[in-house]
Amino acid sequence: MAQVYAAKYLAKAALSAPRDMVNSVVAKYKALHPTVFIFHCTFVCDARCEMCSNWTRGNRKEDMTLDQIRAAFASPLWKNIENASLSGGEPTTRNDMVEICEAMIDSFPKLRKLTINTTGLTPHRAIPMLTKVVELCNARNVIFSMRVSIDGVGEMHGEVRNVRKAFEKAGKTITAMQELQKQYRFNFGISSTIFSQNLEDAENILAWSKKEKLDIVFNMVRFTDAMLGNAELEGKLRPMGKEEQRMRQFFLDRVRQDPILDGQNYIYMHYADMITNGYHRTAPCPFQTQGVMLNPNGDLFFCENSDVMGNVTTEDAESIYFRDDSLAHRREIRDHKCPTCLSPCQMNVAAIKQVVPYARFLVRASIERHRAEPTPPPVPPATPPSVAGPI
Ligand SMILES: C[S@@+](CC[C@H](N)C(=O)[O-])C[C@H]1O[C@@H](n2cnc3c(N)ncnc32)[C@H](O)[C@@H]1O
Ligand code: SF4
Ligand code: SF4
Repeated sequence: MAQVYAAKYLAKAALSAPRDMVNSVVAKYKALHPTVFIFHCTFVCDARCEMCSNWTRGNRKEDMTLDQIRAAFASPLWKNIENASLSGGEPTTRNDMVEICEAMIDSFPKLRKLTINTTGLTPHRAIPMLTKVVELCNARNVIFSMRVSIDGVGEMHGEVRNVRKAFEKAGKTITAMQELQKQYRFNFGISSTIFSQNLEDAENILAWSKKEKLDIVFNMVRFTDAMLGNAELEGKLRPMGKEEQRMRQFFLDRVRQDPILDGQNYIYMHYADMITNGYHRTAPCPFQTQGVMLNPNGDLFFCENSDVMGNVTTEDAESIYFRDDSLAHRREIRDHKCPTCLSPCQMNVAAIKQVVPYARFLVRASIERHRAEPTPPPVPPATPPSVAGPI
């Protein structure tokens, strides 16, 4: 599977390399229309996660209506979007989630891939909605990719998400999606965010995902008010000292043990490198020149470390994006935030568009795989199990 992915990845890189090289030069002198988009369609949520505070700012009354969303997408800003992600909050809490996906497909003429991250915690809503999106994407020839979040095996998942029987509930959605894969083509897997509370469970999650034949992505915890509303949690949740080294080892082990051409290894190597080098980012990020994000209330911003540039319910999205003060803010982000930013968002897209960093990674990864490094002794969990109640 990984080899097929890598072959496609390299083929895409080779095919689009001439155009992307021109674009990367042009982007130095001229702002480009975005190709990558993340839409937090609501902050309303069916979990109360320990490492994310989006659930605290959920307010259905503030969410844009479907008509407002459609009107915002009528702007020429979106004409080059190739990769769109629906996130939140929990997207499946919106009754019109399928219509929002349809609006994106209708409004983005160059859309190639649609992605949804979901808790899967409300299976009776999530399964029919996600099935409709799978059918829609198949009918409209758009690649669909979906991940259910799993942050621990059994009890641990419920403790991280503060939801009773969370593992069983998410499991229902996972099983239904695996069944659906027998009928339709789409990418499906799980996503796991690793931080001090569940670091000890990371190997368990990995073993479980292998047993269940589930593709898995591990996220290293990060803190950003714009995207996760959680900057104040950093002091409490960021792994430090031995825990940080344990986390680095976990990501390096992935690079060493998983197939070298697995798409995620590029990101895991980046996490391990950043822990080693004191959080200096060396990896590319598409949001520096060609990404944009939208919040439920219509606030438009460049990336997870960006200020809000304007609101699409009161102003045309393209005008906001290309305004002088917006572009000045983007330069400020590049100078002051990018050098230490941990974001993996669509990093693979950036790597496809910049062949050299990916080739460099392949060399580094093969060196790592030949280097023997002793595994440090296990570290006891730094925080006691969560005592927050279930919902
Ligand atoms: C913000 S959630 C929104 C979608 C949905 N509610 C869910 O949990 O899957 C999107 C992804 O961000 C991850 N995430 C949450 N908190 C995070 C953090 N502090 N650092 C990195 N990723 C995080 C989640 O685990 C999930 O995979
Ligand atoms: S990670 Fe997802 S489920 Fe958890 S609080 Fe954030 S948005 Fe909600
Ligand atoms: S601050 Fe982070 S997310 Fe934003 S453009 Fe820079 S690297 Fe990308």
